[in-house]
Amino acid sequence: KRKMILDLDTGIDDSLAIAYALGAPDVDLIGIIGSYGNVLVEPGGQNSLKILELLGHTDIPVYLGESHSSTSDHFDRMQVSADIHGENGIGQVELPDPKRSIEKESGVDFLIDAVHKYGKDLTLVPTGPMTNLAAAIKKAPEIATEIGNVTFMGGALTVPGNVTAYAEANINQDAEAANAVLTSPLHSTMVGLDVTLRTLLTKKETQQWRDLGTVAGEKFADIVDYYIQAYVDVNDNLGGCALHDPLAVGVALDPSFVTTIDLNMVVNYNKETYGRTIGDDNRLNEPTNVKVSVAVDKDRYLKTFMEYLTALFKEN
Ligand code: BDR
Ligand code: CA
Repeated sequence: KRKMILDLDTGIDDSLAIAYALGAPDVDLIGIIGSYGNVLVEPGGQNSLKILELLGHTDIPVYLGESHSSTSDHFDRMQVSADIHGENGIGQVELPDPKRSIEKESGVDFLIDAVHKYGKDLTLVPTGPMTNLAAAIKKAPEIATEIGNVTFMGGALTVPGNVTAYAEANINQDAEAANAVLTSPLHSTMVGLDVTLRTLLTKKETQQWRDLGTVAGEKFADIVDYYIQAYVDVNDNLGGCALHDPLAVGVALDPSFVTTIDLNMVVNYNKETYGRTIGDDNRLNEPTNVKVSVAVDKDRYLKTFMEYLTALFKEN
């Protein structure tokens, strides 16, 4: 089984990423690191604990990472996404207070230790800002080449972004951290808006979870229906909600869900184009460092997604 760490700002689609990792047969989820974004870091960590408990996994530790953007001049851009994810981050759905607590060790140290321990056997999936990963690489630069696989949700090769004309939300929280990660020796796979906005879930699928008649099925249907409604109200009506974060977990496990191109990526953090992820196709002879997803087999992905999640919700 593949050792995996999720770095999340939990969040509705982050909750789906947890469910996907728990439902996948070949994953050993060794820990969750909390980030800020959809909600602040502390409630985000609590949400991760609640979702794990709802899904019957009270054995997976949750750590907190950094609570703020590391971008030196971040123009007060830290924002929570109450309009999309609800004030509590999980669509205003009430879940019982978790019986467990957040771990005392910092998420950044947990990540560094895990890379030292598992090296190439470790997969990291960041689906929030890159602040924690950047901090870990700064503290222990060797991890950039020791880690096996980093597949992140973030960025938009083709604009527009979903926060500004240029920026996707995760990168927009901390563009300087994202740039530090992408310009480090680390190799990664980017799952950005180019593919996630083409991978949608509708109320047809959430109804199937509701019909299971289990607590997990009903709660997840309520949580995700909130998100689907937000996509109708706030975003252009795409016909469903985007499976941003669970797609990144899917691609980490099975890269053949997407088509990628190898690019040298940087992230702008000047005021005008803050958060823009720019790909250079090597005309400047810079080594390529990111496999950027540009197309997705959404039908096959959705089939796998529903298989994993439905089986998990059935049991809980
Ligand atoms: C990303 O931003 C967050 O709101 C979502 O959880 C996802 O990680 C999409 O831009
Ligand atoms: Ca997220």
